[in-house]
Amino acid sequence: MDTTSKSNLQQLELQTNTISEPTHQDVQTELNPRQQKHLETLIARYTKRTKTSKQLAQKYRPVFANNRGSVGFNFLLKEMFYPILTERSLGSRIWDVDGNEYIDLTGGYGIHLCGYNPPFIKKALSEQLEYGIQSGAQAALAGEVAELISELTGMERVTFCSVGTEAMMLALRIARAATERNKIALFSGSYHGIFDGTLVKAETTDGNPRGIPEYPGVTQNTAEDVLVLEYGSPESLEIIKTYEQELAAVLVEPVQQHRLGFQPKAFIQQLRQLTKALGIPLIFDEMNTGFRIHPGGAQAWFEVEADIATYGKIVGGGMPLAAVAGKAVYMDRIDGGVWNYGDTSYPHVPITWSGTSYCRHSLSLVAARALLQHLKMQGATLQEQLNQLTSQFVERLNAYFDAEKLPIYLSNFGSFFNANVSENSELVTEPTFLIGLKLIFHHMIDRGILMPKGDGFLSQAHTEQDIDLIVQAVKDSVRELQEGDFLPS
Ligand SMILES: Cc1ncc(COP(=O)(O)O)c(C=O)c1O
Repeated sequence: MDTTSKSNLQQLELQTNTISEPTHQDVQTELNPRQQKHLETLIARYTKRTKTSKQLAQKYRPVFANNRGSVGFNFLLKEMFYPILTERSLGSRIWDVDGNEYIDLTGGYGIHLCGYNPPFIKKALSEQLEYGIQSGAQAALAGEVAELISELTGMERVTFCSVGTEAMMLALRIARAATERNKIALFSGSYHGIFDGTLVKAETTDGNPRGIPEYPGVTQNTAEDVLVLEYGSPESLEIIKTYEQELAAVLVEPVQQHRLGFQPKAFIQQLRQLTKALGIPLIFDEMNTGFRIHPGGAQAWFEVEADIATYGKIVGGGMPLAAVAGKAVYMDRIDGGVWNYGDTSYPHVPITWSGTSYCRHSLSLVAARALLQHLKMQGATLQEQLNQLTSQFVERLNAYFDAEKLPIYLSNFGSFFNANVSENSELVTEPTFLIGLKLIFHHMIDRGILMPKGDGFLSQAHTEQDIDLIVQAVKDSVRELQEGDFLPS
């Protein structure tokens, strides 16, 4: 079986069809009078409540190019199509520009593991502000933060970047430098940031998998260096064997963010054994899993050791910071390896280029140190409790969707959860049902729960009471949508 064939990709797309994803086709859908009335009432209520967000979206659209104002655009929902602009946040709460309070489920795309503005981070940042902002090679804290990351993750050496995408670029560069090979293998359905070198999808030409640009602006030359395989498939392991001599790395998002329920431990372990045997570096993208599922990330969870791992989001304690960490044999490409004063040692490994103006920013580093010390002090209990809270939340809502016979289910990996549509339901192709799914999020926002699309995060700041309020808001939203004939009852 050809693992990158179209039918498999289509199947994968179905499996990964989270509610949040844009359906550009649903431009105009015929609504019946009940649906029309429901929609008009909701639009009136929603746009009144969040009027300043709408005004500002309109005002700044000519000058502010913002894809959050276009991805997922739908004509029927056009009048409610603007991001809720937020101004202030604390713990599990966030306030918008109209002063509305929300229980936040966006978590800053997964950054705020401990909730917004936790006192220990606020204190660290305020203290550092007194000492000024520095960035550059001489950041005194960098070594200590590297040591904390190494301690928690078990990775040997660590270097810093400002954002996840930069960490991905660097991880791939050092793998290529160390192996002197060009091609990387990654898996369809994974996301690794906005680096051209990972924005590649699969095409099969004459039975051979081939990378092609996933978005306009990515060149075919870049895509040629990427092999896109099916995640979790034994066939992918066979393909890796055939490219043994060409592969500089296999890059994996251990649990893909669009299908969090798919957690292929056995495949990951086989992939580790295989890449080790073939001498191909295995890179774990731990941007979402790192420090979330376990202090040691997905590697500790799945009991594998990657050669290189990338971290971001949580690690910066709310500030922009990312890290590449890994075995010395790869990380030495950053600085030439370890050497000592007073002897004949020197940076002996040929290096590649790295480092950016902001990659050791003093505010990011103090926030990261405060966060990592907090994680170290609390141990795995922090993650265990939060993971359990999220799993219970997911189970509770799934039981409700089941009882309502709605083809919706939630999945989670640790405190990261998303909403999915059962692919075998005939409703999946029903336009008004799909509109109904999108409307759930507007109803939730209208009820003070900020979850604008189908994925969300719980944090250490979320309480059982918050969960009760969220569950109630989902039930009330669904009931209204049933009354409005958008969801079956
Ligand atoms: C798995 C994964 N890798 C890489 C990235 C890129 O990180 P950043 O947005 O900080 O560039 C993301 C961002 O969402 C991600 O989810």
